[in-house]
Amino acid sequence: MTDTAIDQALAGAHQRFIEGNAESRRRFDEQTRYMPGANTRSVLFYAPFPLTIAKGEGAALWDADGHRYADFIAEYTAGVYGHSAPEIREAVIEAMQGGINLTGHNLLEGRLAKTVCERFPQIEQLRFTNSGTEANLMALTAALHFTGRRKIVVFSGGYHGGVLGFGDKPSLTTVPFDFLVLPYNDAQRAREEIARHGPEIAAILVEPMQGASGCIPGRLDFLQALREGATQAGALLIFDEVMTSRLAPHGLASKLGIKSDLTTLGKYIGGGMSFGAFGGRADVMAQFDPRTGALAHSGTFNNNVMTMAAGYAGLTKLFTPEAAGALAERGEAMRARLNALCAKEGVTMQFTGVGSLMNAHFVSGEVRRVDDLAVVDGRLRQLLFFHLLSQGIYTSPRGFVVLSLPLSDADIDRYIAAIGSFIGEYRSLMPAVK
Ligand SMILES: Cc1ncc(COP(=O)(O)O)c(C=O)c1O
Repeated sequence: MTDTAIDQALAGAHQRFIEGNAESRRRFDEQTRYMPGANTRSVLFYAPFPLTIAKGEGAALWDADGHRYADFIAEYTAGVYGHSAPEIREAVIEAMQGGINLTGHNLLEGRLAKTVCERFPQIEQLRFTNSGTEANLMALTAALHFTGRRKIVVFSGGYHGGVLGFGDKPSLTTVPFDFLVLPYNDAQRAREEIARHGPEIAAILVEPMQGASGCIPGRLDFLQALREGATQAGALLIFDEVMTSRLAPHGLASKLGIKSDLTTLGKYIGGGMSFGAFGGRADVMAQFDPRTGALAHSGTFNNNVMTMAAGYAGLTKLFTPEAAGALAERGEAMRARLNALCAKEGVTMQFTGVGSLMNAHFVSGEVRRVDDLAVVDGRLRQLLFFHLLSQGIYTSPRGFVVLSLPLSDADIDRYIAAIGSFIGEYRSLMPAVK
């Protein structure tokens, strides 16, 4: 493998992409006038310019130049229902017929709250927000006030929202709270540090599987150590299940048998509309009871009728606990096929993840934390991304793969075949097998 060979392959992929996507490029150039980098959501940018997606239907997408793709990113997990589920559309239209901004408690929020609490047993009471980011900010705020402490334990590679991202330290846009960043999946280190800082710690915030860092499953011993550490320290354990709640019928934490004090939710639970929620122990959530609690929690759109209606329809008619279990099984089966293919081809490539979420990585051996991915040549990820686009598959440049309900078995076969053709074409550029 030579550096030049990868650069040449990538230059070729970019060239083909530029030639095939004149309308996306035109729109991108035009919009740089009004938005920096024509962008309002960092994750959607990639060089040379991102595709403009014009339309979606079921599990298919069309870009502005008319190419059709099978959607294997599904709005970074919020799009579990696909793009045109009649149940969601009807629920939203019906809600809008009753008036859009009602400025009051409405007829829809209570039943969604009940449905979510019944679905996720760790959540005794909850409050809605507009995003997962807000949900995490509010859960942390709840923990700071409940414990009267300042320190928050988080983990390397953790992502809890636009202002709550972590490498081995908080990222530049992360809110200036008193964070202690520990290595993910290191139970021993977590035990020691939590014991050392115990009386200062308000909360331990963790994803049961890290999503944005590359679908890195939390090891059971690690998550259990956090539960024990939090209890001993008198801190609150917050599971960020914004992504992982879809990975088992009642969320990943429940499947793992670990009870958090607070849980945060987001993404698909709002039926594809803006959504977030935080909830858990009733004694902690009582701080927000306007009759008796000390904490206010505001948000003009917290109970907006579209989300409240779409979320209820989605959870009760489409993504039921049974459907969540079945989608997770489909994902496990797909990941097993992909890993068997990589092993058969003898390449340094694997797919990590749980259930319906997975991520391609060009490393061998167990991926325990984001540091294990530091050796990966980012150009290979890009090559994979452009190869998949050329095969009519829409994913993300970081190799993330997300299943949604309307994806067909033929779509899954097509994804696996595209990985086969990627290996066939670029095998010589991939790291040597150790
Ligand atoms: C685990 C996790 N937490 C929180 C968030 C933030 O959610 P939102 O984008 O709705 O603010 C995300 C988004 O990707 C996430 O993956």
